[in-house]
Amino acid sequence: MPIRFDEAAQSWHLAGAGVSYVVGLQNGSPRQLYWGPAIPGGAAASLAVERREEYSFDDRLHTGTELLGELGPQFATPSMLLRHPDGAKGFDWHYRDFTASGDELAIAFGDRGLELTLHYRLWDTGVLDRWVSLEAESPVELGRLDSAAWMLPHWGDYRLSHLSGEWAGEWQLRRVPLPVGETVLGSRRGNTSHQANPWIALDDGTATETAGLVYSANLAWSGSWRVQLRRSPQGRVTVTGGAGQEGLRWTLGPGERWTTPVYSGLLSTDGFGGASRAWHEHLRRHVLPTADEDAPVLFNSWEAVFFEVSEEKQLPLVDLAARIGCEQFVVDDGWFGKRLADNAGLGDWDPNPDRFPSGLGPLIDAVHKAGMKFGIWVEPEMVNPDSDLYRAHPDWVLHQAGRERSELRTQLVLDYGRPEVAEWAYTWLHKLLGENDVDFVKWDHNRPFTEVGRPGDADPDRAYFEHVEAVYELKRRLRQAHPDVRIEGCAGGGARVDPGILRYVDQVWTSDNTDAGDRVNIQFGFSQAYPARAMGAWVTDEPTGLNSRTTSLRFRFQVASAGVLAVGGNLSEWSEADLDEAAAHIEAYKALRPVVQHGTQYRLGDPELETLTGVQYVLGDRIAVLAFKTPWHCNRPVPPLRPAQIASDSRWIDEDTGETHWGATLNALGLPLRWAKADWDSAVLRLRRIE
Ligand code: DGJ
Repeated sequence: MPIRFDEAAQSWHLAGAGVSYVVGLQNGSPRQLYWGPAIPGGAAASLAVERREEYSFDDRLHTGTELLGELGPQFATPSMLLRHPDGAKGFDWHYRDFTASGDELAIAFGDRGLELTLHYRLWDTGVLDRWVSLEAESPVELGRLDSAAWMLPHWGDYRLSHLSGEWAGEWQLRRVPLPVGETVLGSRRGNTSHQANPWIALDDGTATETAGLVYSANLAWSGSWRVQLRRSPQGRVTVTGGAGQEGLRWTLGPGERWTTPVYSGLLSTDGFGGASRAWHEHLRRHVLPTADEDAPVLFNSWEAVFFEVSEEKQLPLVDLAARIGCEQFVVDDGWFGKRLADNAGLGDWDPNPDRFPSGLGPLIDAVHKAGMKFGIWVEPEMVNPDSDLYRAHPDWVLHQAGRERSELRTQLVLDYGRPEVAEWAYTWLHKLLGENDVDFVKWDHNRPFTEVGRPGDADPDRAYFEHVEAVYELKRRLRQAHPDVRIEGCAGGGARVDPGILRYVDQVWTSDNTDAGDRVNIQFGFSQAYPARAMGAWVTDEPTGLNSRTTSLRFRFQVASAGVLAVGGNLSEWSEADLDEAAAHIEAYKALRPVVQHGTQYRLGDPELETLTGVQYVLGDRIAVLAFKTPWHCNRPVPPLRPAQIASDSRWIDEDTGETHWGATLNALGLPLRWAKADWDSAVLRLRRIE
């Protein structure tokens, strides 16, 4: 991606993938001059900082500042909080120099012994990464250092789309007018959180799924985070975001360099659907480590047997999982230590000898003999107080002097900021993977952080950051040492899904809510930011207990086929007919899989608003559509489901029936879906282009 520096204008123009981003200097301080559809170099060079008449009561400098400071008359939410030992605050921008190499630009500024560098990288997907590094000659206290501040175009109105929820109810898309004032999204939980995801989108209120200008952003950070949107009374919107939460303080030592996570921005001219497709492509091509591989259909033991895990009880499931066509068998929680329930054993990572008398070997062999890969559940960042690990190392958990250690799910969080703890985790995981023929790890993380601290440590708030970095590093090292092992990221469902963790995991567990009816909406929300290739989706027994709904096996399989299909039901209790039907659905999924996992995704309708919706995937000359109907209402007419992006003069063959259809007819009359005529209904359509 070209980066052009215009000496006379003192501005840099990053251009590519239909996008231009222009940053310039005004009195030595960096200003976003433009972020939008591509403009010519000449236009970029003639951009000037927007001016408005200023009154002493208004902010003077916030418009377009690349990071919002707290120096002088700047009253916006600061992107950085800095305090020198003599009490001076903020950063007074003095331009130093820049480097541009390949697609990366770095612009350096100095102030009072600090060097602050703004980093930019524009990808061929149109995604612009921004991050900041700060180096101190002498100690400086930090309270916040965001990765970027983005300024939106000057529009008459602004609308915010974001994803929020709760445990077992993640990924709810909210689309709300952005009020004048400050809107905060974030997590103070030490992880990305179920409650809010850092992905956001902004439009002027007129964008649709298929058209309109949409700006969006996402933060590559898996710990506490904050995104603050500020809509000023004058009508400008600035978004600042980064790692950490309010109230933290830490000191940067002499010669130390602090680097923020990447905050990425993206511009779509094709509405919300176009924004999602660009994120999907970007994450698949540049973030996820193995997205070009087909993810196998897996069986997971959790909802089948919960903690009743033993060699004896798993072996029959191995046979049944193989019989229906699963390609990977994952033993979930309960295989180690005294882990008979969630109140003990976490931290003691040797197979439970009562449950696995000869270790994991016989089960792993049986799984491999049945033609499947073997996967295993771990939760390396946590410990139960009732464990040998905790009895030996009570100081290894995040805690504060004189404060009770709050237990959540009867567990505490290990302090990975202590090198000995991170090393302990590497050692046992490396041994587990080295001594056993393990193909897949499900890496769980089942509680947020509380009482974050480290008694005796001068800078205990660093624990928030260190933990996340150590988790990344641990995964990186394990992947390097065991390059064939794949990792599923999980955090009690979807509490740790963000572009940061996606660099180190191959897929994620979307939600502990496996009810297929709820999943239609959960998956709709997930798809706003993240691709189907990363979205683990299980077929389980219903009712799940989260609600009392039951739906057909067909509906459950077809809903779960919209991502990485898996089975999590207790196959021992399935009838012969159920097992045969499951085998047929899995075979059908395997035929769709390349299109679903690697294709371009179009959402057909919004399940919050419409009865009949679907997801369409396109790969080369192939289309797969998964369509879902919520129960019918006599007063809610159901128009046919029309495809996206099909040329009128194209012709298609239905790969299951051999019928052919013109693009024009599909567009006019809708897709020829074959329904089961159930209350929660679904259909699959596979089309191949023949003309
Ligand atoms: C939470 C996960 O989301 C579940 O799938 C399961 O692995 C349990 N933890 C096990 O404790």
